[in-house]
Amino acid sequence: MSTPLGSTELYGELLRLAIDLAREVGMHLRDARRQAAPGARTKSTATDMVTEMDEWAEAYIVDRLLDDRPADGMIGEEGANVTGTSGVTWCIDPIDGTTNYLYGHPGYSVSIAALVDGEPAVGVVADPELDQLYSAVRGHGAWRDNEPIRASSCADMALALVGTGFGYAPSRRAEQGAVVAALLPRVRDIRRMGGAALDLCSIGASRLDAFYERGLAPWDVAAGGLIAREAGARVTDFAGNAVSFRRLAPLGSATAGDPPPPEAWSGEVVAAPAALHDALLDALRDAAPRAG
Ligand code: IPD
Ligand code: CA
Repeated sequence: MSTPLGSTELYGELLRLAIDLAREVGMHLRDARRQAAPGARTKSTATDMVTEMDEWAEAYIVDRLLDDRPADGMIGEEGANVTGTSGVTWCIDPIDGTTNYLYGHPGYSVSIAALVDGEPAVGVVADPELDQLYSAVRGHGAWRDNEPIRASSCADMALALVGTGFGYAPSRRAEQGAVVAALLPRVRDIRRMGGAALDLCSIGASRLDAFYERGLAPWDVAAGGLIAREAGARVTDFAGNAVSFRRLAPLGSATAGDPPPPEAWSGEVVAAPAALHDALLDALRDAAPRAG
């Protein structure tokens, strides 16, 4: 008999699967990187890379998930695109922070989320270099390894440590550079670590006070966004609306590996404690009314 959607039992099963896979794949990625730099080729622009290990990791995760749960859907950065029938869809970024991985920097992660009824219900992000694993279950909280985590209580923009990221298209980067330039004098400092999934975990773990980025894909945000939210942060788009995955349906219609169209997915994320969130939205509006 299949497990009812939304049941604690189902969430527990999805969480165990995601934790085991993210940990196993993360360790393999880390060990492989210590042996040799991976082969790589470009994707959307000359700086947007995919390595052979991104492709191996996604194929491995998808195969293992489908072995265990053949009726589930899958979407992933490297092209996984399976329409399921179970009501569970996995959203996978096999290596978030590919540029870090390519160059041998820490700060890459394996990000696996399970969407139940169209929204993230379970999120797991493995940080192989620090040997840490973040997880969250909708309505039940967020953890680093076995410890519950909480977002910061920072309420003052001037004291906020703010993370952000940049896309791969030069035109978007020009806009993002202008926004950072306007924000920098108004905050404690800026961090650009190179992996949105771990940036969102950093919000959950009070390692950053706030994070914003425009142009993210669902697989960058699905697991980390849930972790930040379950740790108490508010996670919205630049207009202050909750980040929602529902308009992605049918998920299977996304072109392999491409972010979905703007009407289905804004790609915008602003994550911050409630006491700071409105001020950050205002500051982003001041920084560039329509850019970022
Ligand atoms: C990227 C990282 C980066 C963010 C980019 C993403 P990738 O994902 O999350 O931090 O700034 O917007 O595309 O390409 O490393 O999987
Ligand atoms: Ca990514």
